[in-house]
Amino acid sequence: MRVAVPKETTAGERRVALVPDIVKRLTAAGFDIVVERGAGAAASFSDREYEEAGARLAGRDEVFGEAQAVVKVLKPSSEEVEALPQGSILIGFLQPLTDAEGVERLTRRGVTGFALESVPRITRAQPMDALSSQATVAGYKAILLAADRLPRFFPMLMTAAGTVAPAKVLVLGAGVAGLQAIATARRLGAVVSGFDVRPAVREQVESLGASFLDLGIVGEETAGGYAGELSADEQRRQQEELEARMADFDVVVTTALIPGRPAPRLIPASAVQAMRAGSVVVDLAAEAGGNCELTEPGQEVVREGVTIVGLTNLPSSLPVHASQLYARNVQALLTHLAPDGELNLDWEDEITAGACVTRREEVPA
Ligand code: NAI
Repeated sequence: MRVAVPKETTAGERRVALVPDIVKRLTAAGFDIVVERGAGAAASFSDREYEEAGARLAGRDEVFGEAQAVVKVLKPSSEEVEALPQGSILIGFLQPLTDAEGVERLTRRGVTGFALESVPRITRAQPMDALSSQATVAGYKAILLAADRLPRFFPMLMTAAGTVAPAKVLVLGAGVAGLQAIATARRLGAVVSGFDVRPAVREQVESLGASFLDLGIVGEETAGGYAGELSADEQRRQQEELEARMADFDVVVTTALIPGRPAPRLIPASAVQAMRAGSVVVDLAAEAGGNCELTEPGQEVVREGVTIVGLTNLPSSLPVHASQLYARNVQALLTHLAPDGELNLDWEDEITAGACVTRREEVPA
C-alpha cells in the first residue's frame, strides 16, 4: 500500500505523522512510503533520514498523487481534502465530534477517514491511542511551563541562606495528561494534590505520591471510561469548593475534558482572585474553551497578579518525542487496517469500525 506523509500546514504545528524509524519498519513490512520534502524538518527529522529509512521524497503537488493512504497529525485543510485521491484512506486527528463540516467534506470527497480520537479505549487498541500519547506530552509540558512562570522554586531547599518551602501544586482532572503532570511535578519536588470526578482515579493519584483533594463531588464514568458531564448544581458546588481551596496552591494545572463538549468550567474568576500574587494556572483545556473563566485560548495573561497560561497544542512544542510516539500510534493503526501492507478493512472489527468516521460507500451517487 502506498502511504503519503504530507508536511503539516496548520500554523504552529511542528509534528510529523511518521518519523524515519517507523518508516523503516513500515517499509520492511511491505508499505511504500512517500514523504513530502521538509515534512519532518520542524521536528528535527531530515529528508536524508527519511530517504535512508526507505521513503521516497516528493514535492507538495506530487505527495498525494497515487496515495492509497494519507497520514497526518491534524485534520486536512479544505485544499488538502481536494488533493486527497478519491477512495483513499486518511488517518489523523479529524475532530469527528467537533468538526462535522470537515467530516462531511471528506465524505463528499469519497475518502475513508479514520480519526485517532475515535479509536476505542480498549486494551487491544492501546498501541494506537494517540490521545494518550499526546496527552502525556501535554501533561509534562504543562508542569515545565508552570515551573518556568512561577517566581518560586518547586523543590524544598535547605541552604546556608535559609530553607525554601516546596511549591504546592494542584492538578484538576487526573486522566492521562493530569497523571503525567502529577508525576512530573513530583519529580521536580513539589507537594502535589490531584482531583478528578471519576472516583477510580483516587488510587492512581495516590500511587504517584500525591494526595487526593476530596471536594465531595463524584461524577459518572461512561462506558468508554470517560467522565460524564456534571449537573449544573454539582458544577456550582465544585466551583465553590475550589474557590475555598485555591489559595492554598502556588500552581493549578487543569486538564478536565468531556469528549465533544465545551470544557467544564471549574475555576471561576473569583477563585483566581483568591490565589496569591505570582501563582500560576496552566489550562490544558484551553482549546476546548478552558477550565478557568479567565483563560484566553492561545494566550498567556496575568489577571489579579496570577499568570494564566492558555497556550494550545503543547504536544507540538516537544515535536521530536510527540512525533515519535504519534508515529508509533499511526503504525499500529496502519498495520491493523492493512496487515502485510495490503488494505483489508474488516467492518466487523471494533477498532476499524470505531475509528472510521467517514466511509467511501456513503458518497451519494
Ligand atoms: P479526558 O482528556 O477526556 O479528560 C481528562 C480528565 O478530566 C478525565 O480524567 C476526566 O475524568 C476529568 N474530568 C472531567 N470533568 C471533570 C470535572 N468537572 N472535574 C474534574 N475532572 C474532570 O480523559 P483521558 O485522559 O483521555 O482519559 C479518559 C479515560 O480513558 C480515563 O479513564 C483513562 O484512564 C482511560 N484510558 C484508557 C485507556 C485504555 O486503553 N484502556 C488508555 C488511556 C486512557
